Amino acid sequence: MVADIKIVFCVGLAVIFTDVGKSAFIGKSHSGGKADPVLQYVVNNSLREHPVLTKLKLRTLEDPWNIMMVASEQAQFMANLIRLINATKAIEIGMYTGYNALSMALVMPENGRVVACEIEDTYVVIANPFFKEAGVENKIDVRHQTAMKTLNELIAAGDVGTYDFVFIDADKFNYDRYYEKSLELLRKGGIIAIDNVLWSGKVVNPAPDDVTSKSLDALNKKLHKDQRIELSMLTVGDGLTIAIKR
Ligand SMILES: C[S@@+](CC[C@H](N)C(=O)[O-])C[C@H]1O[C@@H](n2cnc3c(N)ncnc32)[C@H](O)[C@@H]1O
Ligand SMILES: *[C@@H]1O[C@H](CO)[C@@H](O)[C@H](O)[C@H]1NC(C)=O
Ligand SMILES: *[C@@H]1O[C@H](CO)[C@@H](O)[C@H](O)[C@H]1NC(C)=O
Repeated sequence: MVADIKIVFCVGLAVIFTDVGKSAFIGKSHSGGKADPVLQYVVNNSLREHPVLTKLKLRTLEDPWNIMMVASEQAQFMANLIRLINATKAIEIGMYTGYNALSMALVMPENGRVVACEIEDTYVVIANPFFKEAGVENKIDVRHQTAMKTLNELIAAGDVGTYDFVFIDADKFNYDRYYEKSLELLRKGGIIAIDNVLWSGKVVNPAPDDVTSKSLDALNKKLHKDQRIELSMLTVGDGLTIAIKR
């Protein structure tokens, strides 16, 4: 199952990788956007990466699935959203090696908490020492099980309406379910950030058998009409939707 997710991921992102310069949008600075001078310029002139984030990124680049890692420039943008709304309670759905979970924890106050959902043991093992090295291991609560189980547990524990920020970045088929659970857990004015909403541009004209692109396109269209939120769809990375709970 996990292998399938990765295949889906890489097929989705491969277009960014091969279409550099031709595509209307750029991708991530560590993979598809690596050779794009405009994205290089953006990174050169705005990235302020914590030294432990830099180390974690370098370690993650040794992993064959590093195309899944969040783009540094996108993580920094989300960290700034966390600052803007004074978030102290965040959820990461799909932690991978922990770049974004660490990036969020680093800008949160001492009482800040990130609930980080990840099913794959290997990634949790890579992430943990970096959380310790950055001194924020007490702020990151890794739940090593399916994200849906964790979200249901948080709801059952009475956390409805208390979270400030959720980043949805795991298996694409469950995005709509993650979105609904996240909206429940979010407070008014809280933010859900949804990754990969452009899926290398394939959502524009999904092939008949491309169920991933179709499901992301359906979610995008649902959110456009959803009166429970304000929204923006950004062309950063592989497409990022920001939904603010009304
Ligand atoms: C795109 S990566 C996440 C990248 C990460 N947000 C970062 O900052 O680099 C997606 C992750 O979701 C995990 N995943 C996939 N399905 C999952 C599920 N049902 N529950 C929890 N994690 C899942 C995968 O193992 C993978 O590590
Ligand atoms: C970005 O910085 C790198 C490293 O210093 C440099 O090689 C590259 O030319 C710079 N690119 C742009 C567009 O600023
Ligand atoms: C965030 O906290 C700062 C300082 O504690 C405060 O001045 C500001 O109004 C808060 N912003 C929001 C959006 O709550």
